[in-house]
Amino acid sequence: MKKLIIANWKLNPTTLKDAQKLAASISVKAKNKVVLCPPTIYLSQIDYPNLGAQDCFWNEKGPHTGQTSPAQLKDLGVKYCIVGHSEKRETGDTDEMVNGKVKACLAQKITPVLCVGFGTTVEQDDLEVTDVLKSQLDINLSGADASKVIVAYEPVWAISSGDPYATKKVATPEHAETISIFIKNKYNVSAVLYGGSANVRNAKEFLAGRNVGGLLVGGASLIAKDFNEIINM
Ligand code: PGA
Repeated sequence: MKKLIIANWKLNPTTLKDAQKLAASISVKAKNKVVLCPPTIYLSQIDYPNLGAQDCFWNEKGPHTGQTSPAQLKDLGVKYCIVGHSEKRETGDTDEMVNGKVKACLAQKITPVLCVGFGTTVEQDDLEVTDVLKSQLDINLSGADASKVIVAYEPVWAISSGDPYATKKVATPEHAETISIFIKNKYNVSAVLYGGSANVRNAKEFLAGRNVGGLLVGGASLIAKDFNEIINM
């Protein structure tokens, strides 16, 4: 079955030329569906079938210095937008703000990739994790059509170890599957992805999970050779 693999380039690379080079090296005929999320400033100049943004604002237009709206993303042909990433929550995004972003994306027919998982630690068991997720998702999805939302479960302790081949700080595929089932059953979302140090060595096991709809890949998506392998698993 086709899964969805989303590349979150975060604040990389530092030149447009390198961004275009990286995009050009990613297969457009992969076995799985692929979305590239480059930095916003490069979006209009990256040629790839499915593009996503890494964040957006909740208002369409107006006096909001430095923001980018889903309406503007839509105009560029962007189809997906990550919202609620833990790195944005860390710098001030509240659950209510994330909810505004989800609804603003849906209003423009952009698929929100709603990241949840902030606040959990490696020591927490599945029950504690689902409590945190429930408190996030209840607010993040309030008043939104969940069936049009993709959720990315990213345990914060597993994100961006900085080492694309990390072995110590990664969730187990069983944990990803358990949490995916919990989210799907409770919220009727379109799919649940796993994210957090997914790489060429562990991706296959995550993708084998029946309820894991794909992966949100950070560090490993910057290594074209590895990412091409992941999207063809
Ligand atoms: P990582 O990032 O794969 O580098 O851990 C994933 C993410 O934060 O989306």
